[in-house]
Amino acid sequence: MKLQACQNLFPTPVLSFSVPEAETLNAQLEQEIRAIRDAEDGVTRTNRNGWHSDGGLFQRDEPGIAALCAHIRDSFVAATRLIAPGFDIDAHDARLQGWINVSPQGAYNTPHSHPRHQWSGCYYVTQPEVEEGQSGMIEFLDPRGSLSDATLLRAQAFSHSFRIRPEQGTMLVFPSFLQHWVHPNQQPQERITVAWNGRFKPRKKNP
Ligand SMILES: [Fe+2]
Repeated sequence: MKLQACQNLFPTPVLSFSVPEAETLNAQLEQEIRAIRDAEDGVTRTNRNGWHSDGGLFQRDEPGIAALCAHIRDSFVAATRLIAPGFDIDAHDARLQGWINVSPQGAYNTPHSHPRHQWSGCYYVTQPEVEEGQSGMIEFLDPRGSLSDATLLRAQAFSHSFRIRPEQGTMLVFPSFLQHWVHPNQQPQERITVAWNGRFKPRKKNP
C-alpha cells in the first residue's frame, strides 16, 4: 500500500536563535547582572538555591540589558512570523516582561509553564561547560497527556520529554504553555540566564 499522508498534529515549536556579537554582549551583561544581584534582594519563584531578579527587565536602563531586550523583542516577533505568518503584528501591542536568573552550583528550577502569554524564552549569558550528565539542561515536558505504551517505540514523536543544553549566546524561544524545568547546576561556575514572557494584545482603536 502507498502512504497517502503523515500529518504531524499538535506540533510544539521550540526555536533557537544565535544572538549577534554575543561574546561582547555577554561580557557586558555579566558585569551589569552581578552589580544588580549585589544591590537587589531578588525574589523566589521556580528558582531553588539561585538568585532571581524582579520582573522589570524591560524597565532597566543598563546598556547591555537594553541591547538584550531589543534581541528578545526581535526573537519574539521572528518566532511569531515563522509560526503564524498570517497574524497581523501591526494591529497588536507587544507586551514583554523579563527577569534574570543566577544559578550557582546546586541551583535548579522546578517544573512550570508561563500562563497568559504566547511565547516564552531564555537567553544564555553564561553556561558552564559539562562533559557528561544533565547539569544545567532545560527539559521540556510532553503537553499531550498520557502516551501510554507509545513510548515503547522510543520514537522522538512519542517521547515524554526533550532535553537540551543551549550554549551561551543562544536565545531559546518556546510556547508559554509548554511545561519545563531546569536540571541542577553541578558545576562550580555560575550559570546566568535571562528569561522572558511575551504576548500580543489587540491594539485598542482610538475613539
Ligand atoms: Fe520558565
